[in-house]
Amino acid sequence: MSAALVRQSEAPLLQVEGLTTSIRVGGAWRDAVREVSFTVAGRETVALVGESGCGKSLTALSIMGLLAAKVGRVSAGRITVDGVDMVAASERQREAMRGDRVAMIFQEPMTSLNPVLTIGFQIGEALERHRGMSRKAARARAIELLERVRVPSAKARIDAYPHQFSGGMRQRVMIAMALACEPRVLIADEPTTALDVTIQAQVLALLAELQREVGLAILLITHNLGVVASVADRVLVMYGGDVVENAPVRSFFARPTHPYSEGLLKAMPRVDSAGELVAIPGHVPTLPDMPDGCRFQARCPLRIERCTERPPLAPLRADPAHEVRCWVRAS
Ligand SMILES: Nc1ncnc2c1ncn2[C@@H]1O[C@H](COP(=O)(O)OP(=O)(O)OP(=O)(O)O)[C@@H](O)[C@H]1O
Ligand code: SF4
Ligand SMILES: [Mg+2]
Repeated sequence: MSAALVRQSEAPLLQVEGLTTSIRVGGAWRDAVREVSFTVAGRETVALVGESGCGKSLTALSIMGLLAAKVGRVSAGRITVDGVDMVAASERQREAMRGDRVAMIFQEPMTSLNPVLTIGFQIGEALERHRGMSRKAARARAIELLERVRVPSAKARIDAYPHQFSGGMRQRVMIAMALACEPRVLIADEPTTALDVTIQAQVLALLAELQREVGLAILLITHNLGVVASVADRVLVMYGGDVVENAPVRSFFARPTHPYSEGLLKAMPRVDSAGELVAIPGHVPTLPDMPDGCRFQARCPLRIERCTERPPLAPLRADPAHEVRCWVRAS
């Protein structure tokens, strides 16, 4: 094998470098995602966590090239999917990448499934478009995919409509659709939040199994730190559009270091503790009210004068793979 090929197979499948995404609010463009950098390799799961409004979905939509041009734009940075620069690509090239090399599944499948088209048609359509399959071959492959995600009686249900499936089954259909063209990168935005706990566990186990089989790189967006602990390799905590902590999952749970991460963990129910849950006081500021400097300052119990300046995301001396954006805690 040539050196170039070896290098390519070792390279991360998703690379995000200095991503800044701006949103138009009341006529002004404001940075809703600021200088976010991370990579996801094949068979790796990186979790993006943070409260509502922290910029998780905007990060995902920026990678997919799905920001509505009038309200959002990537204003700086580089996004590479399987070697292809998604920011420099034309809309046509991005369209060709979506579903083919990078796919996304959402929290509520009914927002992405078309209610008036059968499941078989919707899965088959991507195969006809991206893989040039005939209608008949695409239908056969769609049945195989439904069987693969363990939808019972796939052959009989291929002609059913989305509303004829339960929430958990619809999420399986979405996974089948996302994986139809064998993408290298999968972005899952709160894929199990709308499901009950048992079904959540089944869907996550299915994703992990498919990941092992085909070597997917997964970016998993979730509110649920329990999910992070069970499936992620690395965790990025976002607050107000900034990554405030970036750590291998073990170091994160052993040494949560940013005051915001500590707050998230204290607010998380645990089966092994009778301790009280403590919600983080206050809420994420809206974009026009976002402070300069550390964006967490209004809610932070450790705030000092310097916090009006923006802290850098800095590696911890004791563990350079663990990075924290905080004047007090990063050392
Ligand atoms: N289309 C839009 N128009 C205006 N503001 C937007 C738009 N989309 C997102 N925002 C703003 O950008 C910020 C980040 O939003 P984003 O949807 O990425 O949050 P999130 O972390 O995914 O939250 P959630 O957990 O609720 O899904 C928020 O302040 C949000 O109000
Ligand atoms: S930089 Fe200051 S305000 Fe921000 S998290 Fe650290 S101590 Fe708190
Ligand atoms: Mg979101």
